Amino acid sequence: MKRTYLNTLSKLTLIAAVISITSCKEKNGMAPEYMPDMYRSPAVEPYVDYGELRGQQGDESLKNKMTAKQPVKGTIPRGFQPYAYQNNFEDYEKAGVNLKNPISYSEDIEKEGKELYGMFCIHCHGTTGQGDGSLVEREKFPPLPVKFAPGLAISEGKMFHTITYGKGLMGSHASQLTQEERWKIIHYIRAGFMEEKPNTTVVDSVIVEQVIEEVAKATETE
Ligand code: HEC
Repeated sequence: MKRTYLNTLSKLTLIAAVISITSCKEKNGMAPEYMPDMYRSPAVEPYVDYGELRGQQGDESLKNKMTAKQPVKGTIPRGFQPYAYQNNFEDYEKAGVNLKNPISYSEDIEKEGKELYGMFCIHCHGTTGQGDGSLVEREKFPPLPVKFAPGLAISEGKMFHTITYGKGLMGSHASQLTQEERWKIIHYIRAGFMEEKPNTTVVDSVIVEQVIEEVAKATETE
């Protein structure tokens, strides 16, 4: 009696198992998923405007739904200092008159400038500043019209403007060098090659340094 009972039970279990395994199917023939959102979270595309798919404009309501938003107009990156002059001849002249090196000269600063010059300028302007760089010597670049020597009549402001935007065949170095680094190189060019008496007392730069320190202190505790 007991045996028949067990047999019936196991038969029923087997049938139930077969039915449950084979009966539930989605329309596409796949097994159903429990809480599908957990497996397939909605794909959020940081750089895709959902209004546009492969160049085709789609649903208007989805337009401009990118997660990576464009920065607000006028946004500047942290630590970036805007430069007030435009890339044209008038502003080159204006920068030449108005801009003064905001960094006080010291031998250490000149040394830093020399290192930077060795990384970014030496292959054209050369170790002596006379345009004897390796690119010019190997005739990969035409002879330079400028020689860094005593009496060269180019103000530091013009130099800064040129390093920032480039001039003639010289390209812009704004993306490689911070404004501070550009001024350090100018100290090196003027003190090193042009034998100018360097300015060791820049009051403004002390103030700027104090502000930078204050900001650093304030952001540390954030
Ligand atoms: C690819 C070669 C090249 C490199 C690299 C280069 N320069 Fe020049 N530089 C030139 C040429 C060419 C000129 C002349 C531009 C003109 O007047 O047409 C020039 C001119 C200058 C002048 C004169 C600016 C003026 O207003 O007339 C300065 C200062 C100067 N370069 C500094 C630098 C510094 C600093 C670096 C490194 C950060 C540098 N250059 C890197 C090719 C170069």
